[in-house]
Amino acid sequence: MHSPSPFSSKSRSPEPLSSKPPSPDYDFRAPDDWSDFTEVVGLAYGGYDHSPEHRATVAELLEPKRSLLACAAGRPCATLAGYSLDMTLPGTGPRPVFGIGYVAVSPAHRRRGLMRDMILRVLSDLHTTRAEPVAVLNATEPALYGRFGFGAASQAVSLTIPVEARALAEGPADDGPPLTLEVTSPAEAEAAIARVCRACLAERPGMLRREGAWLRQALADPPADRHGAGRLLCMLATDGAGVRGYALYRLTAGWTHSYPRYTVSVQELSACDPAAYAFLWRALLDVDLGGTVTADARPVDDPVLALLADPRSAAPTVRDQLYARAVDVDRALSGRGYATEAEVVLEVTDPLCPWNEGRWRLITGTTGADCVRTRANADLALTARELGAILLGGGSLVQLARAGRVAELRPGAVQAAAAAFRHDPAPYCPVVF
Ligand SMILES: CC(C)(COP(=O)(O)OP(=O)(O)OC[C@H]1O[C@@H](n2cnc3c(N)ncnc32)[C@H](O)[C@@H]1OP(=O)(O)O)[C@@H](O)C(=O)NCCC(=O)NCCS
Repeated sequence: MHSPSPFSSKSRSPEPLSSKPPSPDYDFRAPDDWSDFTEVVGLAYGGYDHSPEHRATVAELLEPKRSLLACAAGRPCATLAGYSLDMTLPGTGPRPVFGIGYVAVSPAHRRRGLMRDMILRVLSDLHTTRAEPVAVLNATEPALYGRFGFGAASQAVSLTIPVEARALAEGPADDGPPLTLEVTSPAEAEAAIARVCRACLAERPGMLRREGAWLRQALADPPADRHGAGRLLCMLATDGAGVRGYALYRLTAGWTHSYPRYTVSVQELSACDPAAYAFLWRALLDVDLGGTVTADARPVDDPVLALLADPRSAAPTVRDQLYARAVDVDRALSGRGYATEAEVVLEVTDPLCPWNEGRWRLITGTTGADCVRTRANADLALTARELGAILLGGGSLVQLARAGRVAELRPGAVQAAAAAFRHDPAPYCPVVF
């Protein structure tokens, strides 16, 4: 028996928004389990050759009743995984958001509107059931999701720090308890890592509560998925009272003119205080045999960039990271905190989710906000995509206005709203789902 899906139906969604002709009929239902997804995901991504351990964790994370499978003649042809996430929003602790992953369409069924149909079904269902007010995803291709009202809401920076540039600037002396380094396996450190993750959850918008399989996914280290790198290791920064930070990293052997030039790849680093944070970076930059320290996805304002005596040498490269969308404008905007008090009327364009269209009066405060429909003149005009970009406090309204993507209809409105929406530190999500 297949589980009933909130998105189930035989026909297409009621309002096809694509300019393309309607696709043939597909059956939409909830998958029974991950095995319903494997063929389509494998076809869409050019293979799905992860280890059985990785597949088992991905299967455990799948929430079939919140996910969607499209079938043609009984055979799966498109997938969408939905996740119930708890994410820190600006000015709040963690709040429920809806995560979308594994959007995949079999090559034989692509460009017939299936992705559009699945996204629309999911957003309509979240709206009618008044479930999570915000949806988030990691985009494989950045150009894909703007048309569906998702904006680039956080950024990540990749770093490549050569051995010659590993000097860190000194700060004021730390008079806290002395720190000790422990190097262990991630599995042994799981409980300590979980404690640090909990302590750092509210540090930035975009941080996710990671428990159970979400954390095990980050710590898993099947040999088949190492691709030539060494095993995953864990550094812990501890004092007499407990663990204050951890780093997950790998060594990859490398030699230049018979000199060891190993690569130290930092997968994660998180610490409860600046002293533990700097301690861990110092330890990573000082690993024996280390030639280069790399980190693929760090926060765009990672303090290490302020710690390095020569930050330019780290060749920081910024990219878009998490994409966010308001499912319901009023619930999304009143569900987060703001940096300043402001009042602004937003004129929102959102053809995919017409319930969001029109004017909204937003009155912001540092602990919350009100957002209600209004007939007043608009101060700013923007589409759902721009709203998504500023939802987590990352995207710059000033930049969007200068790019012509936000229209200022009352002088000064952009600066006032930008100051309210912006969050420091910048949003960042360490999890790919
Ligand atoms: C990307 C993918 C999901 C698109 O599915 P699809 O059913 O063919 O998409 P649709 O027919 O619903 O197209 C919706 C719109 O997106 C556009 N689009 C689709 N794929 C695109 C791509 N790769 N690049 C740019 N635009 C794309 C379509 O032209 C269409 O535009 P329109 O709204 O202007 O008409 C599918 O090609 C796929 O599975 N690709 C490989 C896996 C992948 O990249 N998944 C994305 C995960 S984030």
